[in-house]
Amino acid sequence: MNSFDTPIDRRDSDSIKWGKYAGRDVLPLWVADMDFAAPPPVIAALQRRIEHGVFGYGGPWPSLTESVLAHLESEYLWRIEPEWIVWLPGLVTGLNVACRAIDGEVLTATPIYPPFLSAPHFSGRQLNRAELACTDAGWRFDQNALKSALTAATRLFLLCHPHNPVGRCWSREELLTLATFADANDLVVCSDEIHCGLVLDADKRHIPFASLSPEAARRSITLMAPSKTFNIPGLGCAFAVISDAKLRHRFERAMAGIVPHVNVLGLAACEVAYRDSGDWHRELIAYLRTNRNLVMAAVNLENGVKMQPVEATYLAWIDVRKLGLAKPAAHFEAHGLGLSDGTDFGAPGWLRLNFGCPRSTLEEALKRFSAACRAA
Ligand SMILES: Cc1ncc(COP(=O)(O)O)c(C=O)c1O
Repeated sequence: MNSFDTPIDRRDSDSIKWGKYAGRDVLPLWVADMDFAAPPPVIAALQRRIEHGVFGYGGPWPSLTESVLAHLESEYLWRIEPEWIVWLPGLVTGLNVACRAIDGEVLTATPIYPPFLSAPHFSGRQLNRAELACTDAGWRFDQNALKSALTAATRLFLLCHPHNPVGRCWSREELLTLATFADANDLVVCSDEIHCGLVLDADKRHIPFASLSPEAARRSITLMAPSKTFNIPGLGCAFAVISDAKLRHRFERAMAGIVPHVNVLGLAACEVAYRDSGDWHRELIAYLRTNRNLVMAAVNLENGVKMQPVEATYLAWIDVRKLGLAKPAAHFEAHGLGLSDGTDFGAPGWLRLNFGCPRSTLEEALKRFSAACRAA
């Protein structure tokens, strides 16, 4: 039995994923964390750090920075300098800071992870949205939609790469087209790459937007974290990579006074996640790939629902509009399945299913999914 097969009871824990349905027979496949324990080297590093017993304010140390640099170079052929890194307690913080740092309107492509929609608003910026196109060949950027959503005042493009919720690992060609668009319209690109370690297709690779060219680097803020890949989002450790010094200073000025230090356990976990957890990561990807295939097969078997292949992330984005349900998420909850409501992503009639769970949980969830579709 694979260690990912072993269910870990999270019902009476601090988990917001499981707490939402406390006392109800609803399998929670909504918020994006996985029901797996962190990699053993991460747990050991945390134990060592706790043994030390002193938890004062902390900051990054040389072997941590070295681990980040080595990881980015070996995984993505992306060479960065230590001073380009700005540590953050989370990616959502980074999205909000980017909106505050860049004067002007914001552009993004929907459907999208909800904080992309709220961050401009919280920062007093107008948000302009372009819809992604759902084609027979999969989800694509729609250049016409991007051009029509763009205003003269737009200065920031929020990119989700890989994309939550549609699961695309954007290709070099697609990214180059976006880079040309950003150049032509003088946009800063804030690229949220939190899911970059979760590319499931063996023939695809994550390409950091900033690694495309010196010009793309100059206009980009890359947001990354070990949190999704190594399942440690509760440890609150992330970072921005900003090579352009002026842009980096603008970002840091917008953080001043409101963004706290990253907690020391998150930093300790980050170092070993990136450096020592490769075996665990390879097994995880193989496990998620099989889960993804099971979800695809089960969803596309049902009448009235469909989904496109998930190239990256552990999230399936499912079109249930043809079921004709007034409240799709509530209908699936009533059948024992807690999914994310597409409305929050700017797409009513869609649901997002998190398949980062043991196979036994997923198999039960897919039975409930099918019962809910047939009862619609
Ligand atoms: C695209 C994306 N960005 C950011 C986050 C959350 O980041 P954090 O917990 O570091 O704020 C998520 C979590 O699901 C996500 O999918």
